[in-house]
Amino acid sequence: MILSIESSCDDSSVAVTQIATKKILFYRKISQESEHAKYGGVVPELASRLHAVTLPKILEEAKEYFDSLKAIAVTNEPGLGVTLMEGVAMAKSLASMLELKLIAVNHLKAHIYSLFIEKESFFPFLALLVSGGHTMILRVESYEKIAILTTTMDDSIGESYDKCAKMMELGYPGGPIIEALAIEGDRDRFDFPIPLINSPLIAFSLSGLKNAVRLQIEALGGTSNLTIQDKKDIAASFQKTIIAHLIHKSKKIFEHEHIKDFAIVGGVAANKSISNAFEILCKKHKKILHKVALQYCSDNAAMVGRYALDAYAKKDFCEISDIESIVSKKDKNRKLL
Ligand code: KG4
Ligand code: ZN
Repeated sequence: MILSIESSCDDSSVAVTQIATKKILFYRKISQESEHAKYGGVVPELASRLHAVTLPKILEEAKEYFDSLKAIAVTNEPGLGVTLMEGVAMAKSLASMLELKLIAVNHLKAHIYSLFIEKESFFPFLALLVSGGHTMILRVESYEKIAILTTTMDDSIGESYDKCAKMMELGYPGGPIIEALAIEGDRDRFDFPIPLINSPLIAFSLSGLKNAVRLQIEALGGTSNLTIQDKKDIAASFQKTIIAHLIHKSKKIFEHEHIKDFAIVGGVAANKSISNAFEILCKKHKKILHKVALQYCSDNAAMVGRYALDAYAKKDFCEISDIESIVSKKDKNRKLL
């Protein structure tokens, strides 16, 4: 069995996965969302303190598996430095105490492997990775070979959902709140510009849209003057624009990438309107759309464990002294390959 730990942001999670069957034998996730909600986003130092309290508690629950473990896997990059270090410190202690191999897991690769939880892997495929930190389209050819085809020039999709919600004082995380409000809103009431619509660039950009939402809120008299219907209409118009942008640039990629399988992974993959839009696009381009089980879209240790199964098979281990890696935000994209 492999024990895996995830602490790259505000979710403390541990899983135990059986190597021979790929089955998850133990899985816990304690999200800190409610603790950060009052600040409208994740406070790194608070997140780090909460991991330091919750991870040992979850590990205590998993103790009965310790004698059967072959390796410890942990997310070591990219993410918030201070929270990554909590998981990494626990993994190092366990690996040295139990004399086990250590597996370093890149968070983006773990999201990609969330597709294969309790399943066999398949390659090649294209993947849209949409989360709080990333907005990318990747060509995944194998465990070793992953290429970034495009990424965002500024904010990520998840971040822009969170900011849109924050501007309307709706709480955190903004993604599920905006998605729920959008269902009851008029998506044609506000005409937000679709980012890079006239640009030949195959890239994403979300900062202009954020600004357009801010200006619209100001034009309506500021956040305190918004009616619930205004908020629903802003949410619906914002989401419509996000979807148009994602589809527009993905279509361009589909024109020259002929791999048949396409997947959506990352926290934002939980969004039904986005996945429905991709369902239609994939049908048009004769591609097969693969989705991640809803409970494994956002950060979790099960996907870390699933990646670790392939790492274990390939003997892709890490020295205890080498695992520390704090990646600053601007380095995130470069670190994948
Ligand atoms: O992958 P994830 O759990 O953490 C990172 O790696 O960043 O993604 C979290 C992000 C947050 O920004 C959250 O608002 C967004 O995913 N998210 C959603 C939905 N559920 C979560 N965004 C849009 N619609 C959703 N239903
Ligand atoms: Zn994530």
